[in-house]
Amino acid sequence: MSYETVRVETLGSVGLVTLDRPAARNALSRQLIAELNAALDGFEADPAIGAIVLTGSDKAFAAGADIAEMKGLGLVDVFENDFVAAWERLAAVRKPVVAAVAGYALGGGCELALMCDLVIAAETARFGQPELSLALIPGAGATQRLAKSVGKAKTMDMVLTGRLIDAAEAERIGLVSRVVPAAALRDTALAVGAKIAALSRPAALMAKEAVNRAFESGLADGIRYERRLFQALFATRDKEEGLAAFLEKRPPRFENR
Ligand code: HXC
Repeated sequence: MSYETVRVETLGSVGLVTLDRPAARNALSRQLIAELNAALDGFEADPAIGAIVLTGSDKAFAAGADIAEMKGLGLVDVFENDFVAAWERLAAVRKPVVAAVAGYALGGGCELALMCDLVIAAETARFGQPELSLALIPGAGATQRLAKSVGKAKTMDMVLTGRLIDAAEAERIGLVSRVVPAAALRDTALAVGAKIAALSRPAALMAKEAVNRAFESGLADGIRYERRLFQALFATRDKEEGLAAFLEKRPPRFENR
């Protein structure tokens, strides 16, 4: 596949997708989402890839859904095409995904970041849900994922007032995992990706699945799910290797089996 709106690179065991529509501040057009999904499909299917990093430009991670594309669409258009359903591909990725955010992450751009597992923000990052200023509401999950991540007070503030929050506030409220200087963003995200990719693959995938279960179920169900996955890992060779390596004071050699 040839890409026009994203750049796709493989850096060792890390797959890197860079959103690349600079003239539109990486607005998330139908084409961009299709290309992002194709890149994600490729990395998911590639056994050499253990983690994915998603990033944008210095100015914008993504300025949201493409406003020009949405203009003129009616209810029947978006209902028949199930507009926004394709965006959920990112949330369904099983390998860990790190978002590296610099500049604006607005509307659907903030929602894409919320679908990632870790969000590493540059000091320049600005997060916001300005959809109400367009007489829309967030449509790619923010009313749910943002509320579950940062609680009602901050979600209502962001959604109802459209206020942009800076990286420091985003970290304080739990929207981002870490804040780093802009110049260190890419290397930090790639290093985090490489660290995750070096883990035992089944353990990393099960950890992600178990944490995500917390967002989908009640506590008792989530705890039971976590316990079953934990127990399942006792069937892997990597678990024996990981424990043995610790006891023998040496690095582990995982086979992802
Ligand atoms: C289409 C966009 C765009 C967008 C920017 N552009 N955001 N085009 N869709 N979301 C275009 C502008 O029209 C302009 O094109 C060029 O990018 C540069 O934008 P400027 O505004 O001149 O840049 P700047 O002053 O740096 O401001 C950056 C910005 C601002 C703060 C990000 O562009 C902005 O507020 N954008 C809209 C943000 C927004 O409302 N997002 C929510 C969208 S709704 P020209 O041709 O004039 O150079 C949404 C719903 C999600 O996301 C629901 C799920 C689908």
